[in-house]
Amino acid sequence: MSTEGKVITCKAAVAWGAGTALVVEDVQVDPPKAHEVRIKMLYSGVCHTDLTYLYGTGKGASTRPFPLILGHEGAGVVESVGPGVTNVSPGDKVIPLYLPQCRECERCKSPRTNQCRKNWKTNMMGMMADGTSRVSWNDQQVRQFMGVSTLSQYTVVADISVAKIHQDAPLDKVYLLGCGVSTGYGAACKTAQVEKDSTCAVFGLGAVGLAAVMGCRAAGASKIIAVDINPKKFKLAQELGATECINPLDHKPRPIQEVLKEKTQGGVDYALECVGNPTVTSEALESTVDAWGVCVAVGWSDAGPINVDVDELLVGRTLKGTYFGGCKGADYVPVLVDKYMKKELKLDEFITHRLSLGEVNKALELLKTGESIRSVISLW
Ligand code: APR
Ligand code: ZN
Ligand code: ZN
Repeated sequence: MSTEGKVITCKAAVAWGAGTALVVEDVQVDPPKAHEVRIKMLYSGVCHTDLTYLYGTGKGASTRPFPLILGHEGAGVVESVGPGVTNVSPGDKVIPLYLPQCRECERCKSPRTNQCRKNWKTNMMGMMADGTSRVSWNDQQVRQFMGVSTLSQYTVVADISVAKIHQDAPLDKVYLLGCGVSTGYGAACKTAQVEKDSTCAVFGLGAVGLAAVMGCRAAGASKIIAVDINPKKFKLAQELGATECINPLDHKPRPIQEVLKEKTQGGVDYALECVGNPTVTSEALESTVDAWGVCVAVGWSDAGPINVDVDELLVGRTLKGTYFGGCKGADYVPVLVDKYMKKELKLDEFITHRLSLGEVNKALELLKTGESIRSVISLW
């Protein structure tokens, strides 16, 4: 029986408030309106950004709206489309995009950036472009995290917030390209623009940092130093391309930036902060060589400003930031999917756990304690 045009009742992991466990509820998902797409979601992950949104107590924490459905890294199949949608059709395999690509704004038309701001304000409030959500629970509106909400069996996204991917792509792997892997890989290749034979340091070896290691390797870096306070991450980092792994705790009280400078005759060419900690961003910046060192802030944090001495910049370093690794999602996510299918990009290695939707809080816990890289959550 076709569900097109009808409200669908399905399971979703609802966040009722800051700091509380997610609850799997029966929610109602409305049909898509004009320029919207309803997706049957099959797989979702949880990323550290979901954790920070839910448990973070820093900047903006008291004004984060709830109830809401988290998740911004997932994959599914288009169930139906609203009027005016031309880029996808029912049955297409897709990856929702938390950073849209509208193709019409000045930023989308420029090769310099992926920072499209269409629908941004409403999406950041967990709403669609018209200021409402397509998801409800007993007539109460439930917000959609970053305009996507992948921790739900069905979701509705704007047509500019979806990437159509290869019909044969295994969704339980390529869903990783919805955030973690694209973000890290793109941060190295697109935002930092790591060059052949350069030296790199990657701080934080979760999915984002490990993908950054993979990006540095693909770009031909000759030295890739992987930095993490959890040595359990080192084995996979080496498999993905790290030439050396360092635990800052082993060098205390010496600052890690001094250790890195010593190992690289003055500092690395590129440093990528994939932790989401302003102190680590300062360490990463100070680990780069003066004159041309580039530091990219990749991780999101609500822990306040980055402390940077202006002298660190005046000597020629650059500090940059990136969302989604500088990738224009609708164009580039399908390219990365194809790369995976041609065995030019690794994804399987990132999946350490397989869980059900009912185990979603376990997935958050495994990420928080550093036991997982990514848990793939089967939504059905
Ligand atoms: N120095 C080095 N590594 C650290 C430090 C530190 N001071 N503190 C934590 N780490 C490491 C953790 O041990 C962990 O391995 O950073 C890693 C972070 O990995 P995950 O928690 O798996 O996070 P991930 O999902 O990869 O996201 C990383 O990117 O998208 C953003 O918001 C997200 O800020 C987060 C970041
Ligand atoms: Zn993420
Ligand atoms: Zn745009």
